[in-house]
Amino acid sequence: MASITVLRLLKCVIVIFALGLPVDGAVVRQYTCDSYFQSWCQLHNATVHMDTDVQASVFPRVRQLGFIYGSIGNFTHTFNNQLFKAGVLRVFARGTRVTTLTMPSTIEQLYLRDNGLRTVEIDPRARYIVRYLRLQMNKLRSIAHFEHLTQLHELNLCDNLIEGVPLDTFATMPALRQLILCGNHIKTLGTTPTVIQLPALTHLDLGGNFLASLPLERWQLPQLINLSVRDNLLTTLDSGLLVRRFPLLRILDASANALDCHSYHQALQTFVNRSVVHLIDRRMCSVDDAIVLDAEEMRRPNGIKPAAAEGNGPLEVRHLKERIFLQQRTIQQQRMEIEQLRANLTTLMEQFDLVAGPARALDPF
Ligand SMILES: *[C@@H]1O[C@H](CO)[C@@H](O)[C@H](O)[C@H]1NC(C)=O
Ligand SMILES: *[C@@H]1O[C@H](CO)[C@@H](O)[C@H](O)[C@H]1NC(C)=O
Ligand SMILES: *[C@@H]1O[C@H](CO)[C@@H](O)[C@H](O)[C@H]1NC(C)=O
Ligand SMILES: *[C@@H]1O[C@H](CO)[C@@H](O)[C@H](O)[C@H]1NC(C)=O
Ligand SMILES: *[C@@H]1O[C@H](CO)[C@@H](O)[C@H](O)[C@H]1NC(C)=O
Repeated sequence: MASITVLRLLKCVIVIFALGLPVDGAVVRQYTCDSYFQSWCQLHNATVHMDTDVQASVFPRVRQLGFIYGSIGNFTHTFNNQLFKAGVLRVFARGTRVTTLTMPSTIEQLYLRDNGLRTVEIDPRARYIVRYLRLQMNKLRSIAHFEHLTQLHELNLCDNLIEGVPLDTFATMPALRQLILCGNHIKTLGTTPTVIQLPALTHLDLGGNFLASLPLERWQLPQLINLSVRDNLLTTLDSGLLVRRFPLLRILDASANALDCHSYHQALQTFVNRSVVHLIDRRMCSVDDAIVLDAEEMRRPNGIKPAAAEGNGPLEVRHLKERIFLQQRTIQQQRMEIEQLRANLTTLMEQFDLVAGPARALDPF
């Protein structure tokens, strides 16, 4: 915190000087880093407008460049060229106005957040090397042409205004591991009948959208570990199909959906049986509470059948006790699972840090 305050105090240094003879009145604007965060060079309040402006701009010769506040207006080819000349490979822009993004073909990590971004232009003829792309808290409505970003490992489009996401858009991205689409207005995930295979996908976040169903039978996600469908409009969930389609699934968040009692009970059984850490809202579905108990009793060696009599006190007490027992056991299992996942996650993050370098550490975006 203290260092951030100190960094904030550093003035934005923009050295303006004339280069050569000012025949055409050209002034070169040399930007220098105001501060560093990790190994990111940061420019505060930079205002880069119109192509002529950009042409006369010289950016610091760094690999990682971040814009904080200020305004870029259009992230154009000319702007990209200037970044390329400076050797910039990774860019972030937080709170910086960027209305239109012409996808840069020489940037490998691009993190835009809260820019008022409305349009992303992707050229089908270009070859893009971008591997990490986050465009959070913007105003995008469409993911047209995103299929040309074939090198993506991570795509995060959270908190935009996207309504339709045809999942086959991502079928061209064999390395895609994280697809984070939370907080949009997604109603449909495409209608093509073909099966969509995303061989490397481990994390899919569809939370906070308007999905009324999941076309599970069309998704082939053999590596999927973590799925969130939190806060959608799901009323049914075929958990049996879910665990068959995603054999490695370990975490499922289906909370804040109004699941019916059948889906609810099936889900509890399936996920406990498969050791899937799950978040599902508790439902008051007294009618078929017996399902959970029956399954449990079948597994017990000396299963004592409850007395046939209905509505008798001791039996209800026993049922309640068994339910408490089952819930406690579930909680216990999930605790252990969470611990193990944490450990595995740490390992993964460390491996990832080796690959992605300082870009990943405590991200400033
Ligand atoms: C950037 O601009 C904001 C107001 O727009 C100001 O509060 C802040 O101090 C400026 N930062 C720098 C480093 O000049
Ligand atoms: C940015 O680009 C868009 C479309 O490419 C164009 O309509 C708009 O006028 C441009 N804005 C500026 C400030 O150059
Ligand atoms: C699983 O996904 C959720 C939602 O995207 C995310 O908040 C959570 O951190 C993820 N957990 C792990 C262990 O990756
Ligand atoms: C639990 O899973 C096993 C296979 O993993 C299956 O044979 C068994 O029927 C399942 N039990 C319940 C109650 O779903
Ligand atoms: C964690 O990693 C170990 C070793 O790679 C693996 O055996 C285990 O199943 C993993 N645990 C979870 C919960 O994914």
